Amino acid sequence: MPQIILTCDPDFNDLALDEFHRDSVRGAPVAELAAGVWLAECDDGFWGLAETWQTKPPIFVRHLCPVDAVLPLTGTAADIASLADLTAADFADALDADMPYSVQSRVLAPDVPYKPFDLNIALSAALTEATGAPVDVRAPTQVLSVVCARLPDEKLSRFTFHVSPTIDHALSTTHYAFLGLSPTDLNLSDWAGGVRRFAREEGQISRAEFKLLEALEVFRIDLPPRGVALDLGAAPGGWTRVLRQREQFVTAVDPAELDPRLAEDKAVRHKRVTAEEYLADEPDEFDLIVNDMRMDARDSARLLVAYTGQLYRHGLALMTFKLPGEDRKRIIEHAFNILRQRYEILGARQLFHNRSEITVFLAKKG
Ligand SMILES: C[S@@+](CC[C@H](N)C(=O)[O-])C[C@H]1O[C@@H](n2cnc3c(N)ncnc32)[C@H](O)[C@@H]1O
Repeated sequence: MPQIILTCDPDFNDLALDEFHRDSVRGAPVAELAAGVWLAECDDGFWGLAETWQTKPPIFVRHLCPVDAVLPLTGTAADIASLADLTAADFADALDADMPYSVQSRVLAPDVPYKPFDLNIALSAALTEATGAPVDVRAPTQVLSVVCARLPDEKLSRFTFHVSPTIDHALSTTHYAFLGLSPTDLNLSDWAGGVRRFAREEGQISRAEFKLLEALEVFRIDLPPRGVALDLGAAPGGWTRVLRQREQFVTAVDPAELDPRLAEDKAVRHKRVTAEEYLADEPDEFDLIVNDMRMDARDSARLLVAYTGQLYRHGLALMTFKLPGEDRKRIIEHAFNILRQRYEILGARQLFHNRSEITVFLAKKG
């Protein structure tokens, strides 16, 4: 059966595997290669499942890639040359030489003397030499995904291995590399394993900023020039700072203090009250409402529904569902149903920068 690798936050393994079972044809996990990284198989294979997820993207599976070749590893530096040989031999024909590509490696096996960067460099050099295809790590249209991991012994019989002549094959290895080539669009994320890191900036107010930056990117949200935004649950002000960087005028609502650096900014109004109190004050209308309030997801959804009168026609909203404990699936469904009264759900994702939460992107119903 065709194999794939799925990646999710390990705290959401159950919900990610539910999505896989629901959306694949006879899908079954084979082995957890590392926390939240699943080798799995399904009858529809990578292409069938990826197509299904293009129309109905999963919330919890962050990254998907095919397994087209498997190579046993020695756990020594010789693996780099073996992987480069295999890459040139097996993937040169399938790579579109006119389109930019990148190699995205993950080294999940412990104690090997190479890092993802070493593999990315060696494998892309081999592939470009064989094909002439240009490497573009920022905007590749095709990706060779490489996952080096330990596979439990009892899982080994499932594979047909590609053996490279540079490897001495008296191997009693449990380390394997899984390789697959796919269009970036079908991988659910442009980043290896869905790990989207942002550089820490000077002046950053909170780590929550990364969450908003990632959401703007994942949901491809274009903010209107000099738009007006409402930030519910704004303190200490990370999201407000990100919105200001995108030239939005921001009303920040939170009974807690905002970072003093925002106080000097005339385009930020701090309403030091709860979101419930602010709503009772008949506030203005906004292009965008963002809501990161620490509150039960269903209560937060109800409040956002109450705020639709404060959104312009076709206004957008972005909120986090806090999902601390049990019953997360039921809470999510309930919160979605509340939101559907007044919003269209444009996207929902457990982002790399979300902890015990998901981020939901909404448009006010016309
Ligand atoms: C996770 S923090 C928000 C972080 C913020 N997005 C940032 O980037 O800095 C959650 C905030 O929700 C606020 N909050 C909780 N209940 C609220 C309510 N009913 N109205 C307004 N804010 C509320 C808390 O005071 C807290 O500051």
